[in-house]
Amino acid sequence: HLCDRRQRQMCIRDRYMKERILVTGGTGYIGSHTVVELQNSGYEVIIIDNLSNSSADVVDNIEKVSGIRPAFEKLDCLDFAGLDAVFAKYKGIKAIIHFAASKAVGESVEKPLLYYRNNLVSLINLLELMPKHGVEGIVFSSSCTVYGQPDELPVTEKAPIKKAESPYGNTKQINEEIIRDTVASGAPINAIMLRYFNPIGAHPTALLGELPNGVPQNLIPYLTQTAIGIREKLSVFGDDYDTPDGTGVRDYIHVVDLAKGHVNAIQKAVSAEGVNIYNLGTGNGYSVLDIVKAFEAANGVKIPYTIKPRRAGDIATCYADPKKAKEELGWEAQYDLKRMCEDSWRYAQMCEK
Ligand code: WQD
Repeated sequence: HLCDRRQRQMCIRDRYMKERILVTGGTGYIGSHTVVELQNSGYEVIIIDNLSNSSADVVDNIEKVSGIRPAFEKLDCLDFAGLDAVFAKYKGIKAIIHFAASKAVGESVEKPLLYYRNNLVSLINLLELMPKHGVEGIVFSSSCTVYGQPDELPVTEKAPIKKAESPYGNTKQINEEIIRDTVASGAPINAIMLRYFNPIGAHPTALLGELPNGVPQNLIPYLTQTAIGIREKLSVFGDDYDTPDGTGVRDYIHVVDLAKGHVNAIQKAVSAEGVNIYNLGTGNGYSVLDIVKAFEAANGVKIPYTIKPRRAGDIATCYADPKKAKEELGWEAQYDLKRMCEDSWRYAQMCEK
């Protein structure tokens, strides 16, 4: 079976390879899963990553999963000359998926200038180089955080942008404006902006997943480390929100579903004119305690937790109206919460081996 699979992958690579796609941040959590789905769809992928929040062995694991080793350039997107050289080396790059960014909300409050420089200048460098090298499309990794606490739920792409709660969230808003203004200036660029909700889960092979540095800030990594015993108990940040059980409600989406959404977006980015924005979520909202219960039921583990005060900057409820992505990208999330919990747990256990 594996041999057939490998032959099939070789076949795709040798004879049916579609366009070359550059993926910045391609050894990261969402990036690595997206590289695999691009390869499964026959694209040739070049990864740029500075490995500041990931490791080079992710490239090996991508090859194990897809059967195809992507090109990898260790490079910081702040390095304009280095980026220019990569575009010159890999001629004919059709489009870019830009994941590379600093993304820790709390850290961005402590180090705003690091976030503004890294997240804004990296994007500016790419946008400046695209016309020079004939790169037509860019898919930008944005976030539902631009909506703040939406006035109406589920939240559509028409919802107003709210004042960002953190420098991280502000960089996403400013990046979206930079892209809009660049395309409006007449640059030969088509842009797709994908606003992610809460990506969780891991690849079913347990070869790819989320490897947070230090103490996890996000719910699922902290929860899995509690289940394993690395953390004593989960802190539930607030149970006095205006939600069914008082804890925060979010739209959790499997990282593989999110990755597949990027393949659909790339197909549109190389053809559709102008700027298009899509929410990538499931349309379902789950509370923190819903997640704890689902994880315990899916994996037969117990998650000790304690209720703590609200976390600064948190909103009560946010979940997507995913209709536009379904209608225009032909994409919708497939995996349910049980599958997200099972895949997260399998990966966490693999990492601890
Ligand atoms: C989810 C819920 C917390 C940890 C952030 C960014 C967003 C994106 C995803 C980058 C909330 C609660 C959490 C914990 C808890 N990041 N929680 N105990 O804040 O919705 O979104 O990460 O792209 O841009 O804003 O995700 O996982 O941190 O929190 O109770 O130890 O879990 O209060 O209700 P969030 P999260």
